Amino acid sequence: MTRTVYVNGEYLPETEAKVSIFDRGFLMADAVYEVTSVLDGKLIDFEGHAVRLKRSLDELQMAEPCSKDELLEIHRKLVELNSITEGLVYLQVTRGSDGDRDFVFPSADTKPTLVLFTQNKPGLADNPAAKKGAKIISIEDIRWGRRDIKTVQLLYPSMGKMMAKAAGCDDAWMIEDGYVTEGTSNNAYIVKNGKIVTRPLSNDILHGITRKAVLRMATEAQMEVEERLFTIDEAKEADEAFTTSASAFVMPVVEIDGVALGDGTPGPIATRLREIYLDESLKAAI
Ligand code: PDD
Repeated sequence: MTRTVYVNGEYLPETEAKVSIFDRGFLMADAVYEVTSVLDGKLIDFEGHAVRLKRSLDELQMAEPCSKDELLEIHRKLVELNSITEGLVYLQVTRGSDGDRDFVFPSADTKPTLVLFTQNKPGLADNPAAKKGAKIISIEDIRWGRRDIKTVQLLYPSMGKMMAKAAGCDDAWMIEDGYVTEGTSNNAYIVKNGKIVTRPLSNDILHGITRKAVLRMATEAQMEVEERLFTIDEAKEADEAFTTSASAFVMPVVEIDGVALGDGTPGPIATRLREIYLDESLKAAI
């Protein structure tokens, strides 16, 4: 089926959507993005994604392409036009182009490029991978220093994912100065003696929208949460581990660098948090 996508004010078949070859998103990775999940035909935590998008744009002095209400309208219309019950909405804003390649930013009144498309993912909530748990490898974190800005510079995370696949695993956690930063496309957590440990927010990691919701829900469920750095060795000795992201919600981790965690199956805290997150998010979806 041909998808209907959104490009700069128009809803078009995906085969007819066009962006300039001079677009700075294409030439310079001068672009930011968001991924919002859809469950039951509704958007999960749209508000959180809209707020983070504004922050990413502000940090890069990039113009807002439209209002938050207009963004919501576009998200909803694409979900409807593409009959998405479970899936994702991808949004990207670039600094646009003034028709040539130049390291200097184009003038401030250059129109940003706004692109959105949907990804149909039936079974996203009831994902069998979450019942099996993910196997991960650790790799050095060699990304740039502003990982809190959700830019489209995803080459290294993409390479990390390929390194994981080559090792027969599902994903990679990145390590800087001996400490885990985050997963290739998710935030990272370990659980030891019932306590959930995750890296505090800084420029070193993306401020996950799912992370924020899951930490709040964990605290509400009387689970203990500690935000501090943890090493990969500590992770290998943890009782359980998991990741969070808009596309995989709470995903248990069962193996790190070939070392099984606990009995090598998804742990009770990760499993419970996944249930709580899906349940609560669905109730609040719009
Ligand atoms: N990735 N850390 C990184 C590096 C990420 O790319 C992501 C999300 C997260 C989790 O953030 P959130 O909970 O807001 O999705 C953490 C998205 C899903 C992606 O690139 O597809």
